[in-house]
Amino acid sequence: MKNHAKARAHTNIALVKYWGKANEALKLPTTNSLSLTLDRFYTDTSVTFDEQLSADQISLNGTALEGPAARRIATFLDLVRSQAGISSKAQVTTVNNVPTAAGLASSASGFAALAAAASRASGLQLDHKQLSRLARRGSGSATRSIDGGFVEWHKGFGDRTSFATQVAPADYWNLNVIAILVNQQQKQISSSVGMQRSQTTSPYYREWEKLCKHDLKKLKMAISNRDFSCLGTIAEENAMRMHALTLSAAPDFSYFDADSLKAMQLIHQLRATGIPCYFTMDAGPNVKVLVEPEHLNAVLAALTPAFGANQLVVAAPGPGIQYLT
Ligand code: PMV
Repeated sequence: MKNHAKARAHTNIALVKYWGKANEALKLPTTNSLSLTLDRFYTDTSVTFDEQLSADQISLNGTALEGPAARRIATFLDLVRSQAGISSKAQVTTVNNVPTAAGLASSASGFAALAAAASRASGLQLDHKQLSRLARRGSGSATRSIDGGFVEWHKGFGDRTSFATQVAPADYWNLNVIAILVNQQQKQISSSVGMQRSQTTSPYYREWEKLCKHDLKKLKMAISNRDFSCLGTIAEENAMRMHALTLSAAPDFSYFDADSLKAMQLIHQLRATGIPCYFTMDAGPNVKVLVEPEHLNAVLAALTPAFGANQLVVAAPGPGIQYLT
């Protein structure tokens, strides 16, 4: 049995979002979602199962992890151990090239890389569908980081049917995503808590579930026609509808901060001058701007006076899971 493996997974940005669970334990979503995997943000994780260890040892960016974050990974490793029929503890080393928990989906690349490295190190041989199901158990959005390019997560009816598949590969459409890093602090309300509160208290939640179905249909059409304004419009509307669920929850909460609103306003202004660009936001204050390469410089030039070049990171469609050893 090979007891060591290392894998790289990239983050993804959802264009039609996942925001709510039908089953907490299995992390089954209430709706399908569709994302674009990004090349600039990724996680490298190595896992070694070692009979000599008495407990899992986990390090993140060179620091030993403890507390709930470490327990979440150990629980995930237990799942891998039970599937593989082994009992050895593991040494896990993770390097995140993503600002952790700032709404850049570090949990997506993190659990996708962990699923790939841990399953391979345990001796399991999983295909993309099986890997995607496994990654889902760590973090919902990780389900979509096994594949590159445009990826749809099918909500399914249970563990076996809830997984992601590729809609189009990374080289299908040359697009850019500018991540505006307005705030790299850890978020106050985790996506799990945020989802639960939205689902149980927002009067608009049922409407959200219905709208996602329509948005997904239109988005798939936009992808197949390479229709950028249609893709951008759906992504921006869907993101704001997700955030409307947080604003309409009780008690209300929000992932926006003042700079997020400033960024959104700038994008609206740019669009009014005829430059096609659209924004989306996840469960954190950073804003991501969708733009075609021919308009990239114009958008960067307009954003730089407000945010500074070091807060603007340009990404492109990225690949699926890669094994490094
Ligand atoms: O993977 P989680 O549980 O952190 O949820 C992520 C949810 C969003 O990023 C806000 C939306 C999405 O579809 O990725």
